[in-house]
Amino acid sequence: MYLQTARLVLRNFMDDDLETFLAYHNDPEVAKYQGWAIPYPRDSAKAFISAMKEMAAPKQGGWVQFAIALKETGELIGDLGCYIKDDDARQARVGFTLASKFWRMGYISEVIPYLLEYLFEDMNVHRVVADCDAENIASYRTLEKLGFRREAHFVESYLMDGVYTSEYHYGLLQREWRENLKQR
Ligand SMILES: CC(C)(COP(=O)(O)OP(=O)(O)OC[C@H]1O[C@@H](n2cnc3c(N)ncnc32)[C@H](O)[C@@H]1OP(=O)(O)O)[C@@H](O)C(=O)NCCC(=O)NCCS
Repeated sequence: MYLQTARLVLRNFMDDDLETFLAYHNDPEVAKYQGWAIPYPRDSAKAFISAMKEMAAPKQGGWVQFAIALKETGELIGDLGCYIKDDDARQARVGFTLASKFWRMGYISEVIPYLLEYLFEDMNVHRVVADCDAENIASYRTLEKLGFRREAHFVESYLMDGVYTSEYHYGLLQREWRENLKQR
């Protein structure tokens, strides 16, 4: 995987990403609504990079995550992932994370359309979904800006650190993505 946007590069993870990846995974603000516990262990980060660095394309039944880096400096700023359903190659799930010092600069809105374009047009995916904590404003605003539709609000459905939190589920169809592009 290697593609460029105006300010960013989406590429495979590399061994040199370890320290930065560990740093943002261990930032409580970044981890607040995510599925991992902190401290996030160095061994897990190493295993993750080792598994992801050779991944060329999403495979059914497993997550593939790509590194987001600044085009100008090469600095790793976050990651973008997708999962193709194991029993349906035309349905995908996406997820995204940025290191907190890079929030609110439009970076995620700049890069996700490239992943969606890849899923909808190159892989002919029919439907992409994403979910987030109902308090994760940054996440659901990002999804809504990209045209995702809120399809469900599950109340106190997810146990996190001993507390039941609520979730929003979002969906976007291939034909909606195409229609939205025409209107931009
Ligand atoms: C979610 C995340 C990737 C957003 O990245 P970002 O680059 O800051 O997002 P953008 O700058 O592209 O903003 C996208 C939209 O969300 C809005 N937004 C972003 N953060 C916001 C916040 N804290 N409060 C309100 N709106 C917010 C932006 O204003 C923008 O909408 P607009 O263009 O209409 O103004 C980032 O906050 C993050 O990494 N959070 C921690 C990890 C996480 O929770 N990931 C999602 C798991 S489901």
